[in-house]
Amino acid sequence: MILYEKPFRLELLGRTLVKDGEEWPFVTREVSDLKEVMMEPHNAGPEGIAYYMFRGLHQWENLRYDISVIESRFYGDEYSKTLGHYHIPSKAGPAYPEVYQVLKGKASFVLQRKHRDETVDCMMVEADEKDVVLIPPNYGHVSYNKGDGPLILANVVANFDPQYEEYMQNHGPAFFCTRFGYKQNTYYIIKKYEKLTPRQINKRYGLMFGDLLEMFYNRPEKFEFLEHPEKLPVFP
Ligand SMILES: [Fe+2]
Repeated sequence: MILYEKPFRLELLGRTLVKDGEEWPFVTREVSDLKEVMMEPHNAGPEGIAYYMFRGLHQWENLRYDISVIESRFYGDEYSKTLGHYHIPSKAGPAYPEVYQVLKGKASFVLQRKHRDETVDCMMVEADEKDVVLIPPNYGHVSYNKGDGPLILANVVANFDPQYEEYMQNHGPAFFCTRFGYKQNTYYIIKKYEKLTPRQINKRYGLMFGDLLEMFYNRPEKFEFLEHPEKLPVFP
């Protein structure tokens, strides 16, 4: 499957990603790595690779463009997903934001922000092919594959180590995305939650996007807010 011809050729052959003729290195997460964060760890089903991460396909200053491929399957009634993580604080204080684009498939992003009193605010953002979604500063996130084929996601983010502890300790995100809708994870106290479209969440922070790779390749300075969240056009 050819993902891009320009600005460079990106082709996914099975689960091998080839950039301009070169097989790109990747890391994987196994189903067994995700058991701690599943709604029904006892119903995880067959072992195997849950998702693939191809990092740094393009870089600008301290920002990088990655692709991930998340297999389509269920863990019990829960859709296939990533482990979930928070980002570390930027120099100015707010934790680093991130931007995702769905290249193929159907996604749900479950975002959550923790308050000092340990309660959380959540946002669920459902996204289709070509949709671009901002993960705002201070939000942890999980990507769900709601489609019946592999979910191919692109993201642009600053270089830092993701923080997994919160998700491991609480056995997953504040809401699980299941075939019967979103189910609350009772390890959390939910203060509020809302369902937003990609456009709504981006607009809340004063952003609009075209194709992520095209934008990041040609106008990388537009993504300066990823390293300096204080430069976001709007910070509600
Ligand atoms: Fe992230």
